[in-house]
Formats: sequence, structure tokens, C-alpha cells
Amino acid sequence: MDEIAPPPHIQDLISARLSRRGLVASLASLPLLSLASACAAHKSPPPGAANAPVSFSPVARTNADTVTVPAGYQVRTVIAWGDPLFEGMAPADLAGLTRAEQEKRFGQNNDMLALFALPFGFPASHQGDDLLLCANHEYADATMMFPQLTKPDGISAAQTQALYASMGISVLALARDGAGWRMVRDANPGAGKNRRITPFTPVVFAGPAARHEWVLAAGAAFRAAEPEAKEGLIPCGTMANCAGGQTPWGTFLSAEENFNFYFHASGDAPEAARKDPALSADAKSFGYPLQRPQPRPTAPAQYDLASNPHGPALYGWTVEIDPYDPDWAPRKRTALGRRKAECANTALTRDGRLAVYSGDDQADEFVYKFVSSKKFDPQNRLANRDLLDDGQLYVARFSPEGEGEWLALTLASANAAAAIAGYRAPFRDEGDLLVRAREAARLMGATPMDRPEDVEAILDGDWVGQGPVLINCTNNRVRAQASPASPRRADPADPGKTQANLTGHVLRLDEAGGDCGAMRFTWDVFLLAGDPDTPTITIRDGKLGAVSAMGSFSGDRFAAPDNLCFDRSGNVWIATDNSDAVFADCNDSVLVTSVQATGPRSVKRFLVGPVGAEICGPTFAPDERAFFVAIQHPGEGNVTGQEFRDARWRGAAPFSHFPDGGAAWPRSAVMCITKADGGRIGS
Ligand code: FEO
Ligand code: CA
Ligand code: CA
Ligand code: CA
Repeated sequence: MDEIAPPPHIQDLISARLSRRGLVASLASLPLLSLASACAAHKSPPPGAANAPVSFSPVARTNADTVTVPAGYQVRTVIAWGDPLFEGMAPADLAGLTRAEQEKRFGQNNDMLALFALPFGFPASHQGDDLLLCANHEYADATMMFPQLTKPDGISAAQTQALYASMGISVLALARDGAGWRMVRDANPGAGKNRRITPFTPVVFAGPAARHEWVLAAGAAFRAAEPEAKEGLIPCGTMANCAGGQTPWGTFLSAEENFNFYFHASGDAPEAARKDPALSADAKSFGYPLQRPQPRPTAPAQYDLASNPHGPALYGWTVEIDPYDPDWAPRKRTALGRRKAECANTALTRDGRLAVYSGDDQADEFVYKFVSSKKFDPQNRLANRDLLDDGQLYVARFSPEGEGEWLALTLASANAAAAIAGYRAPFRDEGDLLVRAREAARLMGATPMDRPEDVEAILDGDWVGQGPVLINCTNNRVRAQASPASPRRADPADPGKTQANLTGHVLRLDEAGGDCGAMRFTWDVFLLAGDPDTPTITIRDGKLGAVSAMGSFSGDRFAAPDNLCFDRSGNVWIATDNSDAVFADCNDSVLVTSVQATGPRSVKRFLVGPVGAEICGPTFAPDERAFFVAIQHPGEGNVTGQEFRDARWRGAAPFSHFPDGGAAWPRSAVMCITKADGGRIGS
């Protein structure tokens, strides 16, 4: 594994520049500048009280079009796309889906799943028979959504409204019965907690960027399109909801990822917008068009960049919703920064503040941490409602020596870095810094990553982070030299050549002093995904790099680690996204390994999904006697989504009929897995 020297350490330059401007005294308290005297990095105690290994027989590789689990386990579909949330509604009729219907039915392409005990309690000690489930709906694609569509431009305006409304979040009640958990329909909207949040739902912008000029301009355009929205709210809802997290006060955090796909341009954006260097950089970074029109005549007007060039500023945030209170409008927590956010996993610091970890899932983007200014109040959940509006955002820098630091994204430091780089669009205020957090992070020398997805800390029973944090890096198809935290495996046939990271890897980060509020950490490669049984290289399409993971782990091979969750026995459960693009003989799956194991750790395959689906949102019921996963986009096939879309317009059927079987159109679905004997999952 060759490593090259990291880029020059920009902090010294920033420090020198700021001191020249006579700001040394006022910056003495900045975490960024106090690193030299920070405490030595410290390995925290191993997580998990019990350290009980899993005891099931691993599932063999399979391309079966179903959810395959070990002997002794059973699988149930809890809810699937298009299923009604309310009584008296007809079963899913995909051909007839409208926006109004989709606003009362489970959304498309479910991703993150989060369970909340009913009633709420802290610390959790739930053994009851009622839960609330929050599910994210990550993306909407006409190819997979409308069976009757025969050409890409055949979609109507009404269908496009339904398409947008299939994204967002679903909240629904679950009840326990003899074979796990089932959904409970409410009598009608408003009668219980079941509801949909879509890109049309009115939301509140909160925190330092709430009144940023881009947000205000875009908000006005959205209000014009949905004029019935209440004063002070912006009817842009939430979309492209990938992973997320939960707070100890019982709210759901949902992260907006690939929102750029839903903006289009009927013509060039106005000249002032195109000439704004900050907006141009934003468009390039996130991938939305300000010129070279890409018209989509049926798309909602507020998503047209020709008339609303600042629309994308309304997305890329972390959204907080209260599943217990349907009347509380969703909050966009701008203090957490804007990016293609994958997750928002939380941990209490040793002094009781809340840390929120997130990855930006685009190749060569970064890992972030937010730490609140105020402390969590365990006695009064409502007292925590604005905790996420005030705090410090950090971005990770990994050193080649296995140490690292959290760089504080402050206005002074970011502008000092911008000046050094000759960056044309300095940050005007804290809100501007948060809208353009990616630019600030890059300028300040954050470490580019191989698509960080879930970033999750190990907690104790009181939600306090113990220090270890795992980071799933899915892959990076761009060839590059190895760099800190982005390992590359050399091709023996051409060892000097740069490589892609096709199989991905998992990093372990240990916060200094075992405190998630720390500003330093140590890190190591926890796992190189790939094939543990072969030292050879596989080249496909002339593009692929090395897939050997020999020496990193033993057991079941896999690629593309995405979401993860921990059990209370010291194991991590890892779900994959597009592993079958590397290892075609097995669909995406869930694998388990011990967090504490050292050396080549044993990896066991627990579950394999249906054809062409990624597995998302792994999570346990509070008593760990049920395991939930989201099956996303079954039927896209063992090819990239684009290849399937092209095939579809030539008349190809989806490659899956999950979960309904027969000739049914595939639907994303939430699955509940239990042991037939009612025991704890993995026991
Ligand atoms: Fe939506 Fe990053 O996977
Ligand atoms: Ca996905
Ligand atoms: Ca994901
Ligand atoms: Ca993914």
C-alpha cells in the first residue's frame, strides 16, 4: 500500500496569516489553533459490554430474487412503496399514483430506518409492543416508478408531481405480534402519528443560514409555487433523504444527499447568478446546471434554475422531525452545514453536549462532526428542541501516521484559508460559511475520502459516545494515489500505477480521551472490503483495480460497505450498496463482524437481498429480537442504474419482482427479520 505525503499543512499558513492581521489574541481560543498543545491521542476502552460473537450459519452467496436469511430466521414485509398509511384506502396501484395519493402512501426507495419507543423514555428501557418507524425515501426515478411509461419524455406533469412526492420521509406506527412487528394504519390523516413528509411539505429553516440571501430568494420562489403554505414556512419539504440519525430526545434526523438531480433548467440562469463565483462553485461542486439548459417541461416550476437559480440552497441540509408530534414543522438545521449528507449519527460528549457525525457521500468529499454549544437535558425532551441551532462544525483531517484532528470551520479560519488560496468568493458570515461548508472544508485542508457513508459512534446505555467511531467508505472509482484514510491496493502487474478503490473500506476513528467532543483522534483501517481468499487482481472493463482483501479479514467476501449499526454485544452489522458490481455472484447483503477483533477479523454474511437492490437502514428493535432493513430499488439489476434505464426504454422488464413475486413490478420495502424461536438476533 503506497502512501504519498499529504498536502502541506495549511493550519500553519492560516495561523501565520491571522497573526499578521493582528488577530492572534482573539483567536487564542480557537480549537484550530490550539492543536499543538492538544492532549495526546488515546485509545478508548473496547466497546460493548458482552462481546458475544454471532452464532448463525452464514448465508451462501446467491442471486436469488428474495431476502435470504440464515436457518432458523424468518422474514416479513412490513410495508412497501405505495402501501397506504391509512385505513379504507385501496392497495398499491402504481399505474394510478398521483401526488395526493403518494402523500398518503409509503414512499419510494426507502433508505434509513429509525425506531422510536412508544411512549418516549430516556434512557431507553423499552420492552413494550408499540414503536414508531421513520423511513427515508432517497430518490425517485421515472423508469422504476411508472410501469406504463414507454419513453423517458412520456411522463406527465401530474406524474412528475407524484414522482417528487414519493421522496421525503414516512412515519408509521408498528405493533408487535407473534412473528415480529407489523404496521398499524391510522383511521385517517391526523388521527395518529402516521404521515408523509415530501418535497412539498412546509418546513422551518433554523440556525445561522436561515436568512442567507440564497435561502430567502429560493424560499420566495417555492412559496410562490405553493402559496397556501403558512407564513414563515418554506414549502420545500425535504428530498433525496439518504441516511440520518436519532437524537436522545426522540427526534429523527434525515440527511439530504443527491438533491441536484431534481433541478433542471429551461434556459440559462440570469447573468448575475451565472457570474456569481460562489454560486458557480456551488453548481460545479453539487452538479446542477446554471447554463447549458436541460429542460424538463413537466417538472415543478420552483425547481427550474432559469427562474430560481438559488433553489439548490434549500437542500443538502440535515432535517429534524419529531415523530411524536406531527404538528411540529420539520426543521432544517443549518448549523450542521450543507453538503451531500449521508447520515447524522449522534453521541453525547463526556460533558453532556451532542456530537453529530456525518459523511459527504461524493468521491473526494469529507467527514464532518458538529458539537452543540449547550448540553442535552435528559429530564425534559422539549427543552432540547433548538439544541442543534447553536454549535461548532468540524471537518476531519487524517494524518498518515494514524492521528487526526477535527478542523473547526470558523469564519476567520475559512477566510484566512480562502485568502491563501486566492479563492474569489470569501465567506460573508457564519450562515454563508454553512451554506458553502464544502468549499470551506476543502480550503482548510480536510482529507478527501472514498465516499464516506455511515459515520457512527459506539454509545453506552445513556447515549454517551465511548470514543470509537466507524466510517464506511463505499468506494472511489476515480484512480488516485493512496492517501491517508483512502488506502489503495497495488496491482502486482503494474505496481506503480494509480488505482481506484473499487471495493471500499471501513475506518475506525478513536476520539481522544474516549470523548466525542474531542478535537483530536487516532485512526486505523478497520477493514478492507474485497475478497479475503485471493491475492489476485480482477480487472473488468479495463477500469477496475485491486479487489484482494487478503490479510484484512476472513470469511465472506463483499464490497461497497454503506450503512451500519451496532448491537449491544460488540458487533457491527454492515449493509452493502452495489457489491454485485464487483462480485456478481451475490446480491447486496448484510455482514457482521466483531468491533473488538484484531488481525484478520471474521466476517459472516447474515442476509442477502433480492436482485438489483441495495440494502439500507439496518437497525434493531430495542430488545434486539427483531432486525429491520430497507430493500431499496429491487430490479435495477446487476448493472448501473443508467444501463438499466436504457434497457427499460428498449422494453426490458425489471430484473426483480420483489416483494410480490410472479410478474409483479418491483417495490422497495421494509423487512423485519426475527428468529423463529423468538431469541435475540445473532444469538
Ligand atoms: Fe444515498 Fe450515500 O447513499
Ligand atoms: Ca441508494
Ligand atoms: Ca447510503
Ligand atoms: Ca450508497
